Parts: sequence; C-alpha cells; structure tokens
Amino acid sequence: MSKIVGIDFGTSTSEAALLEDGHPVVISNQYGEKITPSAVGLAEDGSLLVGRDARDQFLLRPEETLLEIKRLMGSAEKVSLGDQNYTPAEIAAKIIKYLKECSEKHLGAAIDRAVITVPAYFTDKQRRATVEAGGLAGLKVERIINEPTAAALAYGIEHMEENQHILVYDLGGGTFDVTVLEMFQGVLEVKASSGNNQLGGKEFDQRLADYLLDNFRKAQGKDLVLGQRALARLKEAVELCKIALSSAKEYHIVLPFIAEKDGAPLALEYLVTREIFEDLIADLVESTKKPLDIALGDAGLAKKDLDLILAVGGSTRIPLVQRFLQKELGQKPQTPVDPELAVVMGAAIQGGIINQELSEEKDILITDVCPYTLGIETMSFLYDTPIFDLYSTIIPRNTTIPVSKEEIYYTSTDNQEKVEINVFQGDNPKASLNNLLGTFILDGVPPAPVSEERIKVRFTYDINGILQVAAIVVSTGKQAGITIETTGVRKMEDEPDLTNWHKAPGARKYRGLLRRAEKILAREDDPFVCQELESQIKNFKKNLLLQQDKEILQDLEGEMVDLLYDLEDEK
Ligand SMILES: Nc1ncnc2c1ncn2[C@@H]1O[C@H](COP(=O)(O)OP(=O)(O)OP(=O)(O)O)[C@@H](O)[C@H]1O
Ligand SMILES: [Mg+2]
Repeated sequence: MSKIVGIDFGTSTSEAALLEDGHPVVISNQYGEKITPSAVGLAEDGSLLVGRDARDQFLLRPEETLLEIKRLMGSAEKVSLGDQNYTPAEIAAKIIKYLKECSEKHLGAAIDRAVITVPAYFTDKQRRATVEAGGLAGLKVERIINEPTAAALAYGIEHMEENQHILVYDLGGGTFDVTVLEMFQGVLEVKASSGNNQLGGKEFDQRLADYLLDNFRKAQGKDLVLGQRALARLKEAVELCKIALSSAKEYHIVLPFIAEKDGAPLALEYLVTREIFEDLIADLVESTKKPLDIALGDAGLAKKDLDLILAVGGSTRIPLVQRFLQKELGQKPQTPVDPELAVVMGAAIQGGIINQELSEEKDILITDVCPYTLGIETMSFLYDTPIFDLYSTIIPRNTTIPVSKEEIYYTSTDNQEKVEINVFQGDNPKASLNNLLGTFILDGVPPAPVSEERIKVRFTYDINGILQVAAIVVSTGKQAGITIETTGVRKMEDEPDLTNWHKAPGARKYRGLLRRAEKILAREDDPFVCQELESQIKNFKKNLLLQQDKEILQDLEGEMVDLLYDLEDEK
C-alpha cells in the first residue's frame, strides 16, 4: 500500500509528515527545516519559487511574492504573479506540491495520496478549494481533517489509556479554532467546534504595524506615503518584534530609509514594550472567549469538567494568550514541544489509520462534527399573509458526522411547478442573514392545490466536511440536487477514467507530448524517475479530462517539457 502524506497547509507556514514504524515523522524541506513558509513567488529570471526561497525574496520583490494565500481559499478572488492570474487553490497547490516532493525525496518513492488539514471552522467552499489544491498538486485527497482534531489525535495516540475531556485551542497565523473532545477507551469523540477563520497572528502583526505607522505619520506628516517595499519591511519587522516580545519585555524596531521627506531619508524607530503590544491585541485575544463558550456550551460541558487544555498554533506562544486561557478556563494550558507541528503529526496518523498501518494497541477511532448549522430558506403563512425569508435548520451545528438528514416541505401556491432551494449556513432565524452556499431548482412538480405536494430535502454532510443537497418530489420521485456551486472543483470520488484522456476537448494539442512521455517512461529504469514521470502523466491526463483552464494545462505542459528535457539529456 502506498504511503499517505499528512499535510498541514497553514496561513504562514506549512508542514508535511509521514507515518514511519507507527510514529509520525515530520519531513524536512531542502534546507533541513521542518517548517516551510507558505510563500510562492517569481524570481527575477521568471522561475517559480516556493517556500523559503519565495519568503526570502519578499523584502526585495514584494509585488512578485504571494503570502498567506490560505486566507483567500474558497473565494472567487484571483491573485497575479508576473503576467498570469491564479486562483488561490492553484497557488496553494504549488506549496502542497513542494511538500509532496520533499516527502517523496525523503521516502525515495512517489506519493499520490494525502490527508490535508483545514481549520475546523473552514466552510464548505474553503474545504472544496483545499481538495482542489491537493488534486492540482497531483495528490488524491483521501481525507480532509480538522486541525484541532488532528492535534488532539497526535496527543491522544500517546495517551490511549486515559479518559479525559480535552479542549484544543488552536491559534495560528490566520485562523482560530476551538474544539472540545472526549477521549474514552481509545475513541476520540469531537463534541463541538467553534472559531473564527479570519483571526490569527496576522491580525496581531497588523495591529502593531498600524500603530507604528500612525505614530510615524503623527511625527513626520500625515500624508507620508510608504511604498510596497517599505510596507514589506514593516510587515517583517512587526512579526519579528511580536515573536521577540513572547520572551523579551521590550523590542527596539529600527527601519532606516523607510521613507523620504523633502528629499531626505527617514527612519522609523520605536521601542515597543510587551505592555504596548498586549494593549494593541487585547480585544482580539478577548474575542476568542465567545467561541470558547459556544464550544463548551454545545459540548454540554462546564469549564471545570475539562481535564486538559491543549494550546497549539504559533500564536499560543504569546504570554497574553496563555494568561487569557488560564484566567478563562482556570487551568494552565499544556503546550506541546512544537505547537506548530502537532497538527501535521495528527494528519500523518490519520493517513496511517486509513492505510491500516497502526498496531492494534494504537487502534484509535475518531469522530468529528459539523461546526455550522445548515439549512434552507422557507416561507410560511400567518393567516393569509405570506412570510418570507425564514430559515429552516436541517443539520444543527455540532452534529456528529458523517450525517444525512431529511426534512419534508410543502408547496406554497396552487399548481406550483417548481421549487427553488436556497442552501444556507449559519444560525440566524432570518435566512438572508446567513451565508448562502448555493441555489438550485427542482422542477416537474405535478399540478396540485397548495400544500398538497411534498418536497423532501436531504442534506448529506460527509466525513470531509463537504455537503451534498438533494430535493425530491415525494409523489413522483423526481429529484434535483447540488454539490454546492464552486467552479472547476471536482468531487473527491470523481476519479475520471484516464483511458479516455485523448477524447477530452483540447487534448489534441498535448497528444504528442504525452506520447513522448509514455515512450520515455517505457524505457526508463530508475524507479524514482518512473514514479515521478508516471504521476506527472496521470495528473496531466486527469486535468485534461477535468477540463481545467488553459493556464493549468500550460503549467503542466511546462513541467512535463522540463522533465522530458532533463531525461533525454541524461541519455
Ligand atoms: N514565539 C512566538 N510568539 C508569538 N507569535 C509567534 C511565535 N512564533 C510564531 N508565532 C506566530 O505564529 C503564527 C504561525 O503559527 P502556525 O505556524 O501555527 O500558523 P499557520 O499554521 O501558518 O496558520 P493557520 O493554522 O492559522 O492557518 C505566525 O503568525 C507567527 O508570527
Ligand atoms: Mg496551522
């Protein structure tokens, strides 16, 4: 059975791990580092940089460097690099692919399957974009697993004999999750999750940067403009300052030549004390209290029931965060040796579970929940007055997954022919104040008086946190449904039949190249090269069949041409 790589694709940093002899091993990148910056850039010569190389050029070439792409996952926003536009998933794919390659180097064999972690509070769209990114990186995503669940798994596997209630507080670079779990006789059961997928170290950095800029402008003139490079230097400096303040009491920021005034260079200089920094972020840290209370409430637990607080994610190193947890929960949080690595280790363990690589005594079972309430828009009548925009819950938040639930609804007018189904996520009784996930129409409802025809709506939320919705006319069985709208995204099960690749639209252009690749593959005898080439060919065909857009195909073509060129050169 081929290995499954565990990948923690993070806002600031990403990691990969493999299960070896029953234990997760975090994979080093080409620089021997276990933590890789989530950065992608274009070098001066136009070549693609990923990881540290991209991060290192950020100060010099900020406009050619992309950071924190995870924040855009699932949005329709595109980012540009050089003269090309990319979806966030395409950029994420470059980082994931880099980690895949590091892992293959470590293993000495090709890897084509992965478990990828996402914040528990990631939405359906964000999860789909993550699956898409894995696919574009040449990996079949076997499972999407929630980051705090993964962290708890890494802890739980070493403490199988204990029965405890655990709260995982995960504050990373860009997202915040809180998850309450119960561990009992080798079963790790997630009771509830909550969080904020737009809160993390990045916000703390921003607060400090804004503060310094305000002061700088107050002293030097309100209309002082800072260029992209100056802002990049400031961003880097505030992060260093923040990290230093986790152990030091004060930090001196000095940024010479950061701006110009009347032709003379200006320096930004400031002594930041821990107190100043703590004041700046206090309300953000405090804002994690609400999700904390919701998760505990939904889990039906009081603070005193918690046996262990597990603090993971780089931002939990901040003393104020530690104090907040102590004050809020009445006990000192436990921080793993490497709070940034707990998640990826859990992902590798999950990969091992799927592959049945764990020994019997480590046979752990996990269950997770859907952190959001999901439902549809309905209407009703108060006497004869129609009331619109009502929200009917189908799956209440923190239901254990996988789950499939059905509700029956009735037609609202005489001879109604079709029903529009609007799918929402959120807790507001007014449908429109929730998050619209998608819309579809079920037509072919037989003519009948109002309320006579019944419509069954079924929500299926799978183990990866992905939602399918179906609506059925009960009297006829006519059905319509959606896999929530996201362009270019495929469902996990959708492994296309690769033998038909040459029939795909646009495949013609690449036939010659793929034939050439297959010929080389046939005569190649280095197993590592074979696996790499084979996986590239497969990925190419898959993308042709999925009718990916031109840019992706061009990328794949470029890669293939490079590889063939190297191989032919060798002969
Ligand atoms: N000693 C420290 N003190 C304060 N903050 C720190 C420290 N070390 C790292 N950080 C911050 O932790 C964040 C990175 O943590 P981590 O690697 O867990 O996040 P991530 O996985 O990239 O993000 P996410 O999980 O939110 O997507 C960054 O914002 C970084 O500045
Ligand atoms: Mg993380």
